[in-house]
Amino acid sequence: MALREVVKVPAPVLRRRAQKVTEFGPELQTLVDDMIETMRAEPGVGLAAPQVGVPLRVIVVEYGDDEDETIPPKLFTVINPEFSRASPELVSGTEGCLSIPGFVGDVDRHESLTVKGFNRRGQAVSIKANGWLARIFQHEVDHLDGVLFVDRDEKVWRVDEQTTQVSIVDNESP
Ligand code: NI
Repeated sequence: MALREVVKVPAPVLRRRAQKVTEFGPELQTLVDDMIETMRAEPGVGLAAPQVGVPLRVIVVEYGDDEDETIPPKLFTVINPEFSRASPELVSGTEGCLSIPGFVGDVDRHESLTVKGFNRRGQAVSIKANGWLARIFQHEVDHLDGVLFVDRDEKVWRVDEQTTQVSIVDNESP
């Protein structure tokens, strides 16, 4: 396993539609291992392959329970993810992104949905997610379509790392 560099805006790979995975061979296994290690090192709760410069439909997510912090985080690897059964109700929440350091924004997301795709061995998986877990999946799958959270928000905030104060900037800045 190896750490990979997280690419930042305005890298073109972040704006392209990623390709479906067709081969579940050693290259994919190495990519998934490296993405998990990189996500944990940053640290982040999710990472999409374009964020390490690889234009493939692969995401990793590691997140615990919204209500109970004693439940250890669960790791998900989803290849070629797609959503079904998205709840009609949307909820607003504050998101950031490893590829847009120093900025956060409020984004509306489906409160719950089902993620379908394949695990790293090529077996079909179906994951029911709600709350923050559902939000993270939506954020990561957006990356596979070249969409960033700033595209879904009217205002983003710059985070001052010293004071952790936020100030409003227009969303052309990042
Ligand atoms: Ni992101």
